[in-house]
Amino acid sequence: MARKTTISSMDDDDDGDPAVGGGAWDGVLSRGAAAAGGMSAGEQEQLDDELRPARLQDVVGQRDVVERLMILLEATKKRKEPLGHLLLDGPPGLGKTTLATVIPRELGTDIQITAGPSLNAPKDLLPYLTNAGHGSVLFIDEIHRMPPAVEEFIYPAMEDFRVDITLGEGLNARTINMKLQHFTVIGATTRSGMLTAPLRDRFINREHLDFYTQEELSTIILRNSGKLRSHMDPAAAEEIAMRSRGTPRKANNWLRWTRDFADARADGRITLEVAKAALRMKGVDAAGLEGQDRRYLETIITVFGGGPAGVQAIGHTMNIPADTLEDEVEPFLLREGFIQRTPRGRTITAKALAHLGAAEKSLGRKASQGDRPALF
Ligand SMILES: Nc1ncnc2c1ncn2[C@@H]1O[C@H](COP(=O)(O)OP(=O)(O)OP(=O)(O)O)[C@@H](O)[C@H]1O
Ligand SMILES: [Mg+2]
Repeated sequence: MARKTTISSMDDDDDGDPAVGGGAWDGVLSRGAAAAGGMSAGEQEQLDDELRPARLQDVVGQRDVVERLMILLEATKKRKEPLGHLLLDGPPGLGKTTLATVIPRELGTDIQITAGPSLNAPKDLLPYLTNAGHGSVLFIDEIHRMPPAVEEFIYPAMEDFRVDITLGEGLNARTINMKLQHFTVIGATTRSGMLTAPLRDRFINREHLDFYTQEELSTIILRNSGKLRSHMDPAAAEEIAMRSRGTPRKANNWLRWTRDFADARADGRITLEVAKAALRMKGVDAAGLEGQDRRYLETIITVFGGGPAGVQAIGHTMNIPADTLEDEVEPFLLREGFIQRTPRGRTITAKALAHLGAAEKSLGRKASQGDRPALF
């Protein structure tokens, strides 16, 4: 599923005029990727906001990125200059929106939020540019999905803080050159490779977010279980962390599910046994793979003889958009060595075959609804 397009400005007015209001943006931020457990993007967004760290010091992990950002912020504050444009890239749920929203809070500036797919034409972007105050942040999520006309419109805005607006048509047309305040664009993308070189080059600061370690996820889970006022054994937090695919959003979603499970089926305490039972019920295996991930692997095995197979073809067979597979399924499988990407397509690895066999046993049923893979 292509990720849902949302535009969040800081006020709820429907006047299309993104207001800039100090501090008014708490809790109204961002959209999440298609969520686990059939949640809508809007619901996921709300849940994300609830557990989002508010300050840079509360951000767990990504130490190198955070350290570099701290230096940038300190220098910016000392010089009283606007922050240079910043591009954040990495797979869904790793903290791009979180960092983008923490930064203006640290700087004490305003933020306006929009997303590439909402900006159909330059006129959609214009109000954000003209409203951007000195030093304020314009956060453009999914910036790789901005249409070329909008992209070209934003170049002079980012580089020279001006826009060229053409008024009228034909002989009467005239171009007005409008000056803008010095503002900061923070772009977020799951696909930095899809960004054009001129756009990428306009970001003087670029940071890549990578998957989290188990310890980091454990810390996030324990901290957030406190925020949700539930009792969590450290061993349970470790178990959930192990199965969260290196992704804080997953960790938070599994935390919520195990909490519900503990309330409904146990005495509310999330013990190791409770966590294991809750995750088993969701079909999450020891490596954190869910039904969709295993089905992806099995499709390559059963339909494409282990590969190589193109992502479009896999998507067609699974009836899932290739975009979704590339954004949400493949990055973790690649990192864990379950698949390989070759110029001719994706191929399955021996590790994946071994894992599918083990997962089938541990989940006590077929790894997915698909046919038994021919290769194992
Ligand atoms: N470093 C972190 N420390 C603690 N929690 C985090 C961290 N990074 C992300 N999270 C949690 O994970 C959730 C998802 O993060 P976020 O929305 O920032 O991801 P994203 O990279 O913007 O994803 P997408 O590409 O889908 O927009 C947040 O609600 C937050 O609670
Ligand atoms: Mg985001």
